[in-house]
Order: sequence, then structure tokens, then C-alpha cells
Amino acid sequence: QAQAVPVAIDANRPGPVVNRDIFGQFAEHLGYGIYGGVWVGPDSPIPNVRGIRTDVVTALKALKVPNVRWPGGCFADEYHWRDGIGPAAQRAPGINANWGDAVEPNTFGTHEFMDFVDQLGTEAYLSINVGSGTVKEASDWLGYMTGPTTTALGKERAANGHPEPYKVKYLGLGNESWGCGGSMRPEFYADQMKLYARYVRNFNPAQKGPNAMQRIAVGPDGAKTEYTETVMKAWKEKTWAWDLEGISLHNYTVGGWPPHLPSTGFGEADYATLVKETLGMDNLIATHSAIMDKYDPEKKINLAVDEWGAWLAPAPGTNPGFLIQQNTMRDAVIAALNINIFARHADRVRLANIAQMVNVLQAMILTDGPKMLLTPTYHVFRMYTPFQDATLLPATFEAGVYRAGDVTLPRIDAAAVKAKDGQIWLALTNLDPHKPAEIVPEVAGRRARAASGEVLTAPNVNSHNTFDAPNTVAPKAISAQARGGRLTLRLPPKSVTVVRLDF
Ligand code: AHR
Repeated sequence: QAQAVPVAIDANRPGPVVNRDIFGQFAEHLGYGIYGGVWVGPDSPIPNVRGIRTDVVTALKALKVPNVRWPGGCFADEYHWRDGIGPAAQRAPGINANWGDAVEPNTFGTHEFMDFVDQLGTEAYLSINVGSGTVKEASDWLGYMTGPTTTALGKERAANGHPEPYKVKYLGLGNESWGCGGSMRPEFYADQMKLYARYVRNFNPAQKGPNAMQRIAVGPDGAKTEYTETVMKAWKEKTWAWDLEGISLHNYTVGGWPPHLPSTGFGEADYATLVKETLGMDNLIATHSAIMDKYDPEKKINLAVDEWGAWLAPAPGTNPGFLIQQNTMRDAVIAALNINIFARHADRVRLANIAQMVNVLQAMILTDGPKMLLTPTYHVFRMYTPFQDATLLPATFEAGVYRAGDVTLPRIDAAAVKAKDGQIWLALTNLDPHKPAEIVPEVAGRRARAASGEVLTAPNVNSHNTFDAPNTVAPKAISAQARGGRLTLRLPPKSVTVVRLDF
């Protein structure tokens, strides 16, 4: 039996705030991500509110989703917002050329997305079309969404049912402009980006001053640093005429391109490979942050990891253009490790969006007609809700390693925070699929008397939920009391635990 591992939490050295926006979601027009997953239409027998699935909204509300990025992804750079407004019967269908040439019915457009945002009680993160659109098109979109009804665009919005201006918290200035968003040289993108940063304005009076819309420029593709350097240099040399609040980083856990590792039925070698790759997110953020520090030592610019997650082989028998994959206990571990990394980089990472919310890649929810299931990743997001806007506390531990073949991984990972209500929460991941771990939380100067919260584990790393067995991977309550002044927590193999410490 291995020795219990002390995890030292320093409550006297509070770190930065873990911005709740790191728990953001991403909903692209891709496969069943929107159509079927969120939107079923008002005439559907599937219970809905104005066409939006009630079961999906109810489930997502429990995650306290801070923001949703929409309409893409690659889709965003071919999206023309005028196709998605006005009476539904008059909206012209188009082709979703990025994702399987599916027919895009345009029945889910600006108003439907903002209704979804309202129903969820979240914030909008809009990605505008820089690849195939124009500055005027994007500027008109924001004019339509946020302008007063005394303007033609604001009047048109009111005529379409929403006199109040919409709130747009984040604006993405293009998507992957180094790839599907136009294959632009970084210098060319930086020049384009300045035009969008200047002319795409938010007129909502409620978004002046501290609530101002934040503009997120395209940043690095994984480890490549050209965009980071060029966009940050442009920002450093900016004039009064434009500004930025963030740059994006996209990085998936893939296991080699094109994605070929199966989402179910895999063995320990695949598990260890993908978990190791996930841990590379830490170094990636550190690398880009160091470049950003050269131009922005005050860390004004946010590094927004607005696409992350496991990207695996399409589930057998599904349309490969729809990016449908299952979600296992391995995905739960991947999610928890990424969240811990973002929290530890809270001084620079203040926005992140998992790809994607429903039915696409590492999803929270899978649907099949009227059926819905919650994935292991969903449960991790719900268990971590006390981390939203909490203060990071340094947590140090030495737990040794877990080895699988050539791959060596830390045995556990831990992150601690002081929540907004002053309570201390500890998140622990046991990466080892075979051995439990015993943890002794030590909070400087204070002895915890008890711990309570939830633990997520499963029979195997590849265990997953199905429509017939939706609770194979589901959290369970966990609690522990101090004995002889010492509080010990037992972490099952391959598990994610989030507990509150009581003193
Ligand atoms: O999330 C799927 C795709 O991955 C997005 O559309 C694109 O931005 C990225 O390459």
C-alpha cells in the first residue's frame, strides 16, 4: 500500500481569480451540434421552448455555462448572418461546405441563438466572418444586434421580434485564419484584424465601460508561434484607433492527425498516450504566455483557449463530416486535467471553450431523436462549478508516477481554490487506472475536520454512457472525517474528485 500523499494548500498566498469563462462551451453548425442537439423547431414532438430542446437546456443550466461560442469554428468564416434572420419560412437553405456538405436550413439564426443564450442564462461569444465576409457585413451584424431602434438595423431587429439590443460579451475576429479561415499569412491577418477590431462596434449602452465587448483575435495553431508574435506585436504598436482584449489558442488532444484513435473500446496504451498529450497544454500555454509577456507584461490580453478537447475517430457508422464520438472516463480525466491547467494559468487564460457542447467531439451531451444522455465530461463540468470565479490557491504535492509502457505520467493532479463564499475546494484526479491513492489535504495554519463532495469513476477507462445505460459513469457523493486530527481522502483509480473542505 502506497503512503498517503500530503497536498499542501497555501490559503495565505491567494493567486488570481479563476475566471468562470474558462468553463465556456462551443456550439458550431456542425453535424447534430445545433440541429437535433439544440434546435428541434417549435413543431417538434420533442419538448421545446420556441424550438429549443427543453431537456438540453435544463441539463446545461446545471453547468452554469458562462458563455457559448457560436456559429463556428470553420463554419463562422462562411456564415452570412442575413441568411438566418426574418420569418423562418423565408429563410433560404444553404450548404455547410465545411461539415459534410449538409444542408444548412438557417432556421437557427441570430434570434434563435440569442434565445438559447437567454434560456441558458449565459453570455454570447460571437465569431464573425473574416474569411469570406466583409468588414461591412460584420459591422452591420453588430449594428443589427446592438443598435438602437432609431437606426434602420435596430428597427429591423425590432421588427423581427427583439426591440431590446442584444448583449454580445465576446467577439471573435475570425476563426483559424491560418487554416480554414483563409490560410492567411500572419501579417495579412493582422492587417485584416485591425479593420474588424476598429469597425465592428457594439452600440448596446449597457456595454460601455467595464462591460464592454471583448474582441478576441485569431492566435496560435497549437505550438506554432507566428500568429502569437505577429498579433501581439501589432497590438503593442497599436494606435488609439483600435484595440483587442484577447487572442485565441486552439489545441486538441488528438493522438496524431488525422484523428484515428477510437473513442470507445481502447486499451491502456491509448489512454496513457492521450492523457500525456493533454498534459502538454501546460507547456503550450506557458510558451505562448511567455511571448505575450514580451509585448504585454501587464497581462492585459487574455489567452483564450477557445477550442480544446479530445478529437477522436468518428463513431463507426456515423457521417465522418459530423465529428460524432463517444465520451468515456478517459474524457473525464482529460477534461479535469485541462481545467486544472487553465486554473493554474488563470493570470493569462481567462476564457476557454470546450469543443463542443452537444453531439460533436468531446461533448457534454449526446442526443438521439428524443433521447439524451449526459457524458462523463458533463459530470466533470458540473462538479467543478464551485471553481467558477474562485481564487486560485497554490497546491503542492509529490505523488510519484504512473507508468504505462513507455509513457510516464504523474499519478495524481490537484488544484485548490477559495470559492466566492470563502469555502475551500479541492479537485483531485487520480490518473492511475489501477491503483487508488490516499490524499491528506494540509491547509496552512488550519486543520480540515471534514471533506465532502463528489467523485466520478467507472469500471474502466473506456467506460461510457449509452442511451440504454446512461448512468454507467455518474458521480457519487464522497465524504471523509478527520481521525486523530488527520483528514484522509481515498481516490479510486481513474477518478475525478471535487470536495469542499470543512474546518
Ligand atoms: O471544432 C471543429 C473544428 O476544429 C472547428 O470548426 C475549427 O475551428 C477547428 O479546426
